Amino acid sequence: MPAPRPSVPVDRSQRLYNFSAGPATLPEAALLEAKDELPVYDHVGASVMEISHRSPAYDEIEASAREHLRALLGLDDDWHILFLQGGARMQFHQVPLNFLPEDGSADYVVTGRWGKKALQEARKIGPARVAASSEHEEFRSIPPVDTWDLDPDAAYVHTTTNETVNGNQLRSDPVLDVPVVTDASSEMLSRPMDLEGYGLIYAGAQKNIGPAGVTLVLVHDAFLERRKQSLPTMLDYGTHAERRYNTPPVFAIYMVEKVCRWLRNRGGLDAIHAINKRKARTLYEKIDETDFYRGTVAPAARSIMNVTFRLHDPDLEPVFLKKAEEHGLLSLKGHRSVGGIRASLYNAMPEDGVDALVQFMDEFERSYG
Ligand SMILES: Cc1ncc(COP(=O)(O)O)c(C=O)c1O
Repeated sequence: MPAPRPSVPVDRSQRLYNFSAGPATLPEAALLEAKDELPVYDHVGASVMEISHRSPAYDEIEASAREHLRALLGLDDDWHILFLQGGARMQFHQVPLNFLPEDGSADYVVTGRWGKKALQEARKIGPARVAASSEHEEFRSIPPVDTWDLDPDAAYVHTTTNETVNGNQLRSDPVLDVPVVTDASSEMLSRPMDLEGYGLIYAGAQKNIGPAGVTLVLVHDAFLERRKQSLPTMLDYGTHAERRYNTPPVFAIYMVEKVCRWLRNRGGLDAIHAINKRKARTLYEKIDETDFYRGTVAPAARSIMNVTFRLHDPDLEPVFLKKAEEHGLLSLKGHRSVGGIRASLYNAMPEDGVDALVQFMDEFERSYG
């Protein structure tokens, strides 16, 4: 059978459709703006990478990023916005370090690889219970909130709103008797969030928010007050809530500001959420059309950010990936721990990119089905 051919050879000096799970595709408009400003930023006579993090120019950039985040997410003044480093994995450690008291415990809802890692790190600090898990089903589903075995005295309940590797996503923002702490790395800013139940939300920037190098942490003042005392200064959320303590990742935050502005110009989180749902629906419809492709997650728990699927014949998967690259569809390989195919459809992935992927999947199926 002839393999599907790209109609034009792929030109790798051009931007292609990049389905990477992270670091992921960024809005081209933000990249082009940064390109223009790279040698000299806004009449300061130097690059943004070369100026002091205490300078008025940087103050303005950070203030604008904060303002956009507040407006996009509807954060009131009780929420602190922190730009930290160390990635989401640092948060696996920093959350229990701050909030898991010596005489208490925390509840963890484990719906995928990342939640499991967060639990493992918490247990290095103190007792952490599994309130719910779908590991026995290889994380193909999410246990409904009303089945979670919650401890009313838990210091917090930790969830992962979107499991990047396994491709599942919580359908709602739970409001429980104790504050919820969530890892929202792979869906932050992809939809409006109901903040009521949360005490702290963290996200590595490198999917929907900006480039790698900054971790966005939102912490509610009432929850912050519950943290332990005498924490190492850099690992105490209070340090960063109070002031700009050390050198922040200036360039990454500068890009976050641009991405947030781009989001605002696209109509904010309601608008991008509608587009994200449409992109995911288009791709899942293709997957479900025949038995050639198979979604790995139960429909009710499917992520609209990371669409994971297999081919009916796993031996065809390397061929699929190779041909996809030849068609200019990049980074579709599933995470090394689970294999298969994963298409990450973050905010900056245009609908045309999803249409191109679906068209390629049609052609591939015709050739190899
Ligand atoms: C949901 C989630 N949590 C945590 C991580 C780890 O993030 P980092 O590499 O920023 O530590 C990732 C990375 O992909 C992720 O998707």
